[in-house]
Amino acid sequence: MQWKNKLTDLLGIQYPIIQAPMLGITTPEMVAAVSNAGGLGSLPVGNMDADAARAVIRKTKSLTSQPFAVNVFAYDIPISPEAAAFDAMQQLLQATYSRSGLGVPVVELQSLHLNSYKDILPVLAEEKTGIVSFTFGIPDDGGLALLQQSGAKMIGTATSVEEAVYLEQKGMHAIVAQGAEAGGHRGTFLNNGLPQIGSMALIPQVADRVGVPVIAAGAVMDGRGVAASLMLGAAGVQPGSAFLLTDESLASAAHKAAIAASTDTSTRLTRAFSGRWARGLYNTLISAVEESDLQVLPYPYQDALTQPARKASKAQDNPSFVAMWAGQAAGMAKGGTSAAAVVKGLIAGAEALLPSLKG
Ligand SMILES: Cc1cc2nc3c(=O)[nH]c(=O)nc-3n(C[C@H](O)[C@H](O)[C@H](O)COP(=O)(O)O)c2cc1C
Repeated sequence: MQWKNKLTDLLGIQYPIIQAPMLGITTPEMVAAVSNAGGLGSLPVGNMDADAARAVIRKTKSLTSQPFAVNVFAYDIPISPEAAAFDAMQQLLQATYSRSGLGVPVVELQSLHLNSYKDILPVLAEEKTGIVSFTFGIPDDGGLALLQQSGAKMIGTATSVEEAVYLEQKGMHAIVAQGAEAGGHRGTFLNNGLPQIGSMALIPQVADRVGVPVIAAGAVMDGRGVAASLMLGAAGVQPGSAFLLTDESLASAAHKAAIAASTDTSTRLTRAFSGRWARGLYNTLISAVEESDLQVLPYPYQDALTQPARKASKAQDNPSFVAMWAGQAAGMAKGGTSAAAVVKGLIAGAEALLPSLKG
């Protein structure tokens, strides 16, 4: 088993180590540092508008000449919730903010502007970003054709074997197998379900069913996680939590301290912040929403409603209303270090366990 494999060949990189895209955490500097260290940085553009996406792509290009991935939230915006449901959730949240002395602007449902991934795809084609990864699903056939024509290599996210098989049929060149341990949103997109398959079960079953390279995501924190993933049949890894405490991370000091103090039992899956299931550290916002008997609004309406509080809370370095996405092993993350050092640590740790990787 060597570092050079079908995934490194596909992406044109030295090591099959992909820094997970983390919207709100990952900076162009983080992406460039990982790509310059021989891995693949992933730039999250989530559901930004086209201009904002173009700006961060150009910034990243200015920092590295190596390949990097651009990560897009590929889902269809559902119909708006009833105004009464939106108002009830807003009242609950405003009362909670007031009790904590946090002033948060009110969100008007009628004036919400929600961006679609469809506006970002032409930017990716124009900017010739080369590698695109998706979560929450994949673009429609027109969007896929546009990216295929631009020569982009496409990576989809699966949380079950069924999703992985679907992604391969739709032309994905590689598939992230996201285990239930993973921090952040579940990429789940088929059948409105919530598969919670641990990586130990998911990776080999996906690897047995698809022909394209499989990338393991979830609790890969050091060389042991890299080596184990490769042994299970993955061609590469996509750690996220391992980069949360790096110098290039946008997490505030209190947010980083909460991650550093977390243990194996500190995270939970919640819909409280965004309306989609995501794994993170428990805090005041989650407790307020989950202890109420209100229905959480569908994504991205709940996300839009909590967005101003996340911003205000972060500005005060008070993590009570910040979405602190983190995986079950986030407490193993190393602080006071650069993203490049994390990549080097993953490489050295895996090589110590599997010397043949060095070739
Ligand atoms: C803070 C945070 C933000 C995330 N944001 C995204 C994102 O924008 N796009 C995406 O595809 N995955 C996102 N994820 C999920 C990661 O791609 C990946 O599946 C996960 O980090 C792997 O688990 P780990 O955190 O245990 O390493 C995020 C994860 C975290 C921890």
